[in-house]
Amino acid sequence: MDQVKKGLEGVVALDTQISFIDGVQGILRYRGIEIEKLADLSYDAVSYLLIYGKIPDAGELKPFSMELIKERDVHPHLLDMLKFCDFEHEFLDALRTAISVCAHFDEDLNDISEQANVRKAIRLIARFPTLVAAFYRMANGLEVISPDPSLSHGANFLYMLRGALPTALEAQAMEKDFILSAEHELNPSTFALRITASTLSDMHSAVISGLCTLKGSLHGGAREGVMDMLDDIGSADNIAAYVQEHLEHKQRIMGFGHRVYKTYDPRARIYRDIAMQVATEKGKSHWFDLAREIESVMYHEMVENKHKPIYPNVDFYSGVLYKDLDIPSYMATSIFAIGRISGWIAHFMEQYADNRVIRPRAHFV
Ligand code: ACO
Repeated sequence: MDQVKKGLEGVVALDTQISFIDGVQGILRYRGIEIEKLADLSYDAVSYLLIYGKIPDAGELKPFSMELIKERDVHPHLLDMLKFCDFEHEFLDALRTAISVCAHFDEDLNDISEQANVRKAIRLIARFPTLVAAFYRMANGLEVISPDPSLSHGANFLYMLRGALPTALEAQAMEKDFILSAEHELNPSTFALRITASTLSDMHSAVISGLCTLKGSLHGGAREGVMDMLDDIGSADNIAAYVQEHLEHKQRIMGFGHRVYKTYDPRARIYRDIAMQVATEKGKSHWFDLAREIESVMYHEMVENKHKPIYPNVDFYSGVLYKDLDIPSYMATSIFAIGRISGWIAHFMEQYADNRVIRPRAHFV
């Protein structure tokens, strides 16, 4: 038996054509294209790229977007059934239940042909934002708002959330958020999804595996942790004490560090830019300024204590952006999932296309 690699650190589990990460140089590419370039496209175009392997031309993108728009509505009975969900905490539990219920309404549920998988994929990508926005409205005693077919994926989500049109910059920020969250190679939730897919289970089941894994505070749950941390710290005077106390007690500072990136996460840089633009448009830079200061204190604390510096990851400035978009922290992980769904779908398809059941061994002690 080979040596055990705790946390499978450094283990290469499979070949993929979906994304590439260079954790030393801070490079991320989806299907060979730099994340910096992709961040300026639409979420629909990036979803197409992830699923079909190429950036769509206008003739390919339009029908794909039309399909997504057509599938945005969720059955009213589904929302009625979900009213019993616990909306006191992160919506991820409600989303997991919703996808499980959606499976029962899906006529293609147990059809695992490629065509059926594409139909299910479109429905899942289209409905995640509708569900999460509906939870927010239900949790706050507000009427659920139907999707607006004239709006982009990101603009429509903010519209369904607020009942008012977002500004052009807010809509653009939401699109970027979904794009930056869409895909990240064999992160824990994607790996969990691929294990489920490798047993030839269905797409909804695999996505639920992904959701359950995304929830944890060391993975997607860190975004909520960042937002709560910003509230806890409150003002720049409190940063040094907060960071020092956490590091002394070997507690994690949320939104910092990464298993793969040993340098700045390229997504964090793009989030930082768009968060700054939104803060400037709104004339409220409190959270952004606080975050910049936390980043600086964190860097100096690590270096002064002879550790390697730890940089912000994808969850740090996305948490700041959500605060400036007036999104509550209890929605953060679910919104992450709205973006991640298209990457999950791509991995599901890739696993199916060349499958071998994923079944490692354990070392008995
Ligand atoms: N705060 C304080 N110290 C940290 C942090 C952090 N956020 N991250 C890593 N470290 C320290 C560890 O204490 C450890 O120090 P030591 O060598 O003195 O014991 C060293 O850096 C290496 O950390 P590991 O835990 O070995 O790194 P690992 O690859 O296992 O963990 C992880 C990566 C889980 C992301 C970690 O950095 C972390 O817990 N970060 C905070 C949670 C977070 O932001 N998660 C989101 C990640 S991105 C995503 O999943 C979407």
